[in-house]
Amino acid sequence: MKDVIVALDFQSKEEVVEFLKGFPEPIYTKVGMELFNREGPDIVRYLKAKGHKVFLDLKFHDIPNTVAGAVRSVASLDVDMLNVQAAGGIAMMEAGLAELKKQGKGTILLSITMLTSTNSEILKNELWIDHPLDDTVLHYAANTKKAGLPGVVCSALEVPLIKSHLGADFVTVTPGIRPAGDAKGDQARVVTPDQARSLGSDYIVVGRPITKNSDPYGAYRKIRAEFLGLED
Ligand code: C5P
Repeated sequence: MKDVIVALDFQSKEEVVEFLKGFPEPIYTKVGMELFNREGPDIVRYLKAKGHKVFLDLKFHDIPNTVAGAVRSVASLDVDMLNVQAAGGIAMMEAGLAELKKQGKGTILLSITMLTSTNSEILKNELWIDHPLDDTVLHYAANTKKAGLPGVVCSALEVPLIKSHLGADFVTVTPGIRPAGDAKGDQARVVTPDQARSLGSDYIVVGRPITKNSDPYGAYRKIRAEFLGLED
């Protein structure tokens, strides 16, 4: 099912409560390290109790045993989506998935291929990866599928390539979304909600274009309508 995931990149629960006051219906939210590291698991319990879906974006990246332990620690929160860094390798992703299955959870476990703030220069000059960005993302996505995970977080620009190699049902969650005319900020590979739909993204992750807007709910509705191809 396609949807917009709103990145709750706030420092405190108070800010989240204030922000969500403007939303009359439950939405798909993303809790990342900024909020989770301050508020802990309670913020996830709060959102779930309010009927919101939660993508817990903690991007686990460690040795397989530690990632399994981290997954075990958050499993009781019953989040809808969770992720690990594909750069941690196949065994690490398998360990996370095995733990989730052992706990009997329906949580979707995804991997991050490359951060959408990474561009070709950073890949080559800082990470010292000599392969083109697209090839690297596809290789990490293929590793993810090998490990048994159902999908990846990637740029919408990479969705056609990933789906053509790994199947239309391989889930793609795409941050780096900017409505036409919005500032890019620190994101390098950005597309509009409409382009994300044409490219075949399953979910778009949107933060600042909604959270920093003077009318967050209005911005959310507009972006959602554009992405889903609905009349708003
Ligand atoms: O504010 P903005 O729309 O750029 O927020 C994008 C969100 O998606 C942030 O919470 C960021 O951590 C997350 N993200 C990303 N690129 C990835 C994975 C997650 O930008 N590859």
